[in-house]
Amino acid sequence: MTDGPKTDVPKTDVPKTDVIVREVGPRDGLQAEEPLPVEARVRLIGALVEAGLQEIEAVSFVSPKAVPSMAGAAEVMAALPAIEGVRFVALVPNMKGAELALAAGLRALTVTISASPAYNEKNVRMTVEESAVAIAAICGLGVPVDAVVSCAFGSPYEGDIAPGEVAALGHRLLEGGASSVTYADTTGMATPRRVGELVAETGPRIGLHLHETRGTGLVNAYAALELGVRRFDTSVGGLGGSPFAAGAAGNLATEDLVHLLDDLGVATGVDLDRLLDASALAASLVGHPVPSRVAAAGPRSRLAPA
Ligand code: COA
Ligand code: ZN
Repeated sequence: MTDGPKTDVPKTDVPKTDVIVREVGPRDGLQAEEPLPVEARVRLIGALVEAGLQEIEAVSFVSPKAVPSMAGAAEVMAALPAIEGVRFVALVPNMKGAELALAAGLRALTVTISASPAYNEKNVRMTVEESAVAIAAICGLGVPVDAVVSCAFGSPYEGDIAPGEVAALGHRLLEGGASSVTYADTTGMATPRRVGELVAETGPRIGLHLHETRGTGLVNAYAALELGVRRFDTSVGGLGGSPFAAGAAGNLATEDLVHLLDDLGVATGVDLDRLLDASALAASLVGHPVPSRVAAAGPRSRLAPA
């Protein structure tokens, strides 16, 4: 039996993409690098838009003393035109950051809180409780807020954190008004087994922010995909890592995930060739090669055209 012709499907029922890839390179990637000029950051974001990324974490509004590379966030946003179909997001750690972000024209935020009490204190100098209270207040500002729970698969400070405990924190954030929750593997402690354990507690309507610290980022994404997860954070070139977690290394590379999803026939809206151009630009801007494997080897389609 064959499915009917595609034209039978009403357009409104067709999702734009099967999977949402949120590009976090301009924030998570560049925060770990030497500060770049505003113009260079804007150029990288432009290249990512050209590649078809529809959701881009462009900046963070944080203390410039804590993260010097993210200074100038308002200037970056001022230099970006509004582009239909593209949503720019800013990460904020507290109400001050949220107010600065809204003043700079942002209409969507990510907030950060950790399942690890020690990491939370190092990262944002608040207890988890204080962060949860601050996040609930930020959710009252009236823009969508994605709450990112870091160290969701374990912490370099406390070790394993029970998946039920992590899911309970996510649930509390949703109750407090967050529009969605993303679970982050800040220090690369996730494995497919741990992803399965968390998704068993949360259900698949979550985002995942994965790292390649131990080479498990892509395999974790694949495991999550099989469990029905449809939102992933990735960083162009695989740049990134938190300056506040010992051993944090690069994020799952956007091109590595898109390469896999293309092969699986999963639509992302991203053009891999243009994404590789953006990745090459990222490498030239930061002044060193990026860790992405697909950036290094090229996509398999170049060797085996369909
Ligand atoms: N953006 C810019 N400046 C901010 C700010 C924000 N969101 N929040 C506070 N500040 C400023 C204060 O105005 C104050 O400035 P001053 O010294 O000129 O008076 C200074 O930072 C200290 O304020 P305080 O509230 O005491 O902050 P803190 O020193 O306890 O630091 C954070 C708390 C959250 C601001 C800081 O730890 C931070 O920015 N962390 C973000 C870390 C990050 O981005 N991690 C990676 C992503 S998960
Ligand atoms: Zn990250």
